Amino acid sequence: MGTRLNTERIQVTPGNRYAVIGHPIAHSRSPIIHQLFAEQTDQTLTYETMDVSPDELDETISTFFANGGHGLNVTVPHKTNVMTLMDKLTPQAKLAGAVNTITRLPDGTLEGDNTDGIGLITDLRDNLHIELIDSSILVLGAGGATRGIIPPLLEQIPAEVVIANRTVEKAQGIANAFADLGHLSACGFEDLNDRKFHLIINATSAGLQGELPPFPDSIISPDTICYDLAYSMRDTPFIAWAKQHGCTKAWQGWGMLVEQAAESFFIWRGVRPDTYSVRMQLPQ
Ligand code: ATR
Repeated sequence: MGTRLNTERIQVTPGNRYAVIGHPIAHSRSPIIHQLFAEQTDQTLTYETMDVSPDELDETISTFFANGGHGLNVTVPHKTNVMTLMDKLTPQAKLAGAVNTITRLPDGTLEGDNTDGIGLITDLRDNLHIELIDSSILVLGAGGATRGIIPPLLEQIPAEVVIANRTVEKAQGIANAFADLGHLSACGFEDLNDRKFHLIINATSAGLQGELPPFPDSIISPDTICYDLAYSMRDTPFIAWAKQHGCTKAWQGWGMLVEQAAESFFIWRGVRPDTYSVRMQLPQ
């Protein structure tokens, strides 16, 4: 399938209008991904980007849904702030403490959901065929992204998940919050000397500044799998580091981006798109 869109077929009618809100948002790939899903499943919809500053959030969401909007994706920096604007939250959104998918229900109320966790697990487990059960997983970073992925990772029953962060108290706070869900612990980067993991997930935002968190090189071996939640047209600093250290299984979060979008599409349209052809059109 090509990336050409059948724009003649798309009409804006109530229930067919979707958008992603963020700040900034111009770089977002969500419109093209959702249009490819729509074309593939023969759905009629529009999907736009909306650059919304934090002080416009409440008003923009109300206006969007009052004017026939059916669903919104939410990205940085609004995922936590939109929670208070929802009438209902799904268990996934409550656990993650963040919303990335808003749906206008038939009674007009707004439901906040979070598809990031299932998007990550689908990419790791089903697309990349990574064995998560009984594995040892290191998560770098302890911000909002880490909070969102810890519950779905622990649901896969790994042997352990370790959160390492520059500010150890933040890692400890997340470990305490989810202690009931599985074998979870927290530490600083310097405590990782001599530790080895099956899977290392970079959930820091260091790469946005072209930086690499100061973890020891010794955490990687040729068998280690590396995954960066971030994605870029070229290797992120974390993926470049992994490859420089002989890692042959190093992936950016493009697959997670497509899978979380597919889950949102399913919530809104009741049809599950095939993600393979869409993933093949994005960088690997
Ligand atoms: P997000 O919502 O993307 O998770 P966030 O909540 O601001 O963003 O969290 C960013 C994470 O990246 C934090 O864990 C942060 O470490 P601190 O908690 O110590 O601030 C981490 N981070 C950002 N830049 C970093 C850098 N240069 N080196 C190491 N960690 C970094």
